[in-house]
Amino acid sequence: MITIKNVREIKLMRESNSLVALILDELHDMIKPGVNAFDLNARAEDIMKEHDAESAFKGYEMDDLGPYEYSICSSVNSEIVHGYSTKDKVLHDGDIIGIDVGIKMNGFCGDGARTFVVGSIAREVQSLLDCTKQALENAITQCKPGNRVGDISAAIEKTAMDNGLHVAEWLTGHGIGRTLHEDPMIPNVGKKGTGPMLKPGMTISIEPMFNIGTSKTVEKEWVFYTMDGSPSAHFENTVLITENEPEILTKTRNS
Ligand code: MF3
Ligand code: CO
Repeated sequence: MITIKNVREIKLMRESNSLVALILDELHDMIKPGVNAFDLNARAEDIMKEHDAESAFKGYEMDDLGPYEYSICSSVNSEIVHGYSTKDKVLHDGDIIGIDVGIKMNGFCGDGARTFVVGSIAREVQSLLDCTKQALENAITQCKPGNRVGDISAAIEKTAMDNGLHVAEWLTGHGIGRTLHEDPMIPNVGKKGTGPMLKPGMTISIEPMFNIGTSKTVEKEWVFYTMDGSPSAHFENTVLITENEPEILTKTRNS
């Protein structure tokens, strides 16, 4: 069921998603060679606690996987999403790290992700990041009432195609509200003019994931990797559909 949020619910969605943006900005400031993912996770947990919020990821259950153990996802290089935030995951010059933050506060969820650069990276990898971020922006341009989910998906797919990149298979965005994952599903490939219609009051998390070498993925427990080991980027914003322009609820410093 697709939920339409009322004025009060929209206010709470704004608050939850602003906290996600704040955490992403704080973690961005920590990114440098030598930092480990466990410490990023710990900092995120501290900020959540300060705001009486909790992680929407920790304890999340899916299929027959055990509950997810981390409060944020830290996905380095060929890890596409759901990477583990462990102490031995130490950042090195030239790495990229996708940080995904999901929270629940006052009964409403926030969700957002950015891929950050560690030190200096190869030109090809920078272009991967730029294009994935551009895909998210192009997708958000489609978030007008009367448009359909397929318009969002098609905009993402086209951005990958135009730039010779590959959309990670299987993974999608989603509606969001009292729970992290609500209807509708927001695929990263699709046809214009198809799928559910966008209406004011809907809140959706759009999350393109692009790979350099292949769309094929491998799963090990929770973690999705590119099949060929090539780098992958992930950018996610939660967006409110309004009568006019879409409102990005997870606006960070640079996006
Ligand atoms: N942003 C990701 C998603 O919406 C977060 C995954 S939740 C996790 O699917 F628990 F699997 F980490
Ligand atoms: Co999400």
